[in-house]
Amino acid sequence: MPCRQPHTDSDPGDRAPDAEAHEGSHNSGPRALTLGSIEWNRAMWGDPNRWEDQGNNWSFHAESCGQPYVQWKASVVATFIAPFCGPGVDVLELAPGHGRWTEYFVGNTASLTLVDLNASCISVCEERFGSRPEVRLIVNDGRSLPVPDASVDLVWCFGTFVHLVPRDIDGYLGEFRRVLRPGGRFVVHHTGWPDATLRLVPLTRRLGRPGRVLQHRLSQGLWRPGGDRVEMSARRFAAMAGHHGLVVDRQVRTWGSNRQYGLAFNDVVSVGSSPG
Ligand SMILES: C[S@@+](CC[C@H](N)C(=O)[O-])C[C@H]1O[C@@H](n2cnc3c(N)ncnc32)[C@H](O)[C@@H]1O
Repeated sequence: MPCRQPHTDSDPGDRAPDAEAHEGSHNSGPRALTLGSIEWNRAMWGDPNRWEDQGNNWSFHAESCGQPYVQWKASVVATFIAPFCGPGVDVLELAPGHGRWTEYFVGNTASLTLVDLNASCISVCEERFGSRPEVRLIVNDGRSLPVPDASVDLVWCFGTFVHLVPRDIDGYLGEFRRVLRPGGRFVVHHTGWPDATLRLVPLTRRLGRPGRVLQHRLSQGLWRPGGDRVEMSARRFAAMAGHHGLVVDRQVRTWGSNRQYGLAFNDVVSVGSSPG
């Protein structure tokens, strides 16, 4: 069954904008902050109440394609993680959160560096993985990767670039170019709105809630409101990467033998490399 985008009857504007983070959560903290800013990301993910089951409660991607979460997660690992790691590979996971993907890298890399903006997330990863000699844990400033030039073979990042303002994505792509060895790879999940709808953002932003509803309808389809996506398209992401000398090889929205797995909110996974 190909991945589908089921409709819901609910109005996007009637749902919490951070549907991805926590359905039904009413913590007003991050609401006062600019979506996608460092401050917003610190407040949102630094709150322990926002985490359940190490992030495995975020099953909306699986739901969007009608697949059980456990199978969807296994398909992500098989398609986007397993092919790129191995005993000789130095991996940097950007924004591991509470380690829901990290658990698949542990034991399958030469080294594993975990970099996250939130000290609370790094503490959880330290508890879970800190006893491993190859694991390094770093709290960063939300923009830079405090590792040496040309020291990494793979950068992995899931569930985070969708929530970063384009300027910070651009900065991180520059960092990827710096830290990746020649031929090194990056696999990044990010927002993938249609280009045409990006042009509406300056207008819809001025319209408040009705503008947000309209933008979501046009950019994310009708499957589900919210998601706290910051505007980005597949083409814009590839162009940004190219500006830093990186090459995007593949941009994937659905995968599996029948393209039965996919992502909610029109998201994309970009797989790319740093040329020699
Ligand atoms: C939605 S959680 C995703 C966590 C994990 N990757 C997963 O898929 O379960 C977002 C994570 O990104 C981290 N984060 C947000 N903004 C960041 C930034 N600018 N730099 C580094 N980490 C960031 C948060 O602290 C949090 O751990």
